[in-house]
Amino acid sequence: MTIKAVVFDAYGTLYDVQSVAAVTDAAFPGYGELISQIWRLKQLEYTWLRSLMGRYEDFSVITRDSLSFTLKTLGLTFDAAIFERIMDKYVHLDLYPDAKQTLAALKGRKLAILSNGSTDMLNALVRNSGLDAFLHATISIDSTRIFKPSPRTYELIEAHLGVRPQEVLFVSSNPFDVCGAKSFGLNVAWIERVTPQAMAAELAKADLVRPLSMFKAIRMQMDEYGLEPDYRIGALADLPKLMAAP
Ligand code: LAC
Repeated sequence: MTIKAVVFDAYGTLYDVQSVAAVTDAAFPGYGELISQIWRLKQLEYTWLRSLMGRYEDFSVITRDSLSFTLKTLGLTFDAAIFERIMDKYVHLDLYPDAKQTLAALKGRKLAILSNGSTDMLNALVRNSGLDAFLHATISIDSTRIFKPSPRTYELIEAHLGVRPQEVLFVSSNPFDVCGAKSFGLNVAWIERVTPQAMAAELAKADLVRPLSMFKAIRMQMDEYGLEPDYRIGALADLPKLMAAP
């Protein structure tokens, strides 16, 4: 591979969006899992629908609005302090445990994030997690005023890093993002964290399907747009080996 830059999606790829569950459950005992899933589902939905409506608001606004929607839908009462405590987790999300070692192993290539996150949110998250030591650039889609998977967002990679699409490996766990990047013309590695076999087993004969299982089914299985990632890997830690292959 003549790959000059490896560009990562942020939320769900380097950072575990499910790590909000401890905070949401501490704020509303027994509701943590449900809040976390509805929140993330709506957050992404709002990015796409605002893009379609031509009513861009940045990801911090969308993250707040989708949390507000979630708590109201569940009939939970909250004050500003609880709301801000939950929101604060979004700039302190847990890294996947193999994130730092993977970035360290990829040293020598340009490494960057391209994310739907707003510039402020992303910079805070990257700084708080210590990833700033590994990354050449943290690119927010903010300047395009449209969210991924719009092709305009993926154009930012060349604009910021000076590398052509065929010289980029884009890495995401989010199927919509994988398809968007592939459609645009990047080389794409999908982190398939839940295999179809594991998914089917989790849903098989379940009396009650858990909210997290529904999330995995809706947002972690490959979508049917007739687009295929170039590579499927199980974890970030598989990347160095993939890059070393001839
Ligand atoms: C991001 C969202 C898509 O980081 O997870 O861009």
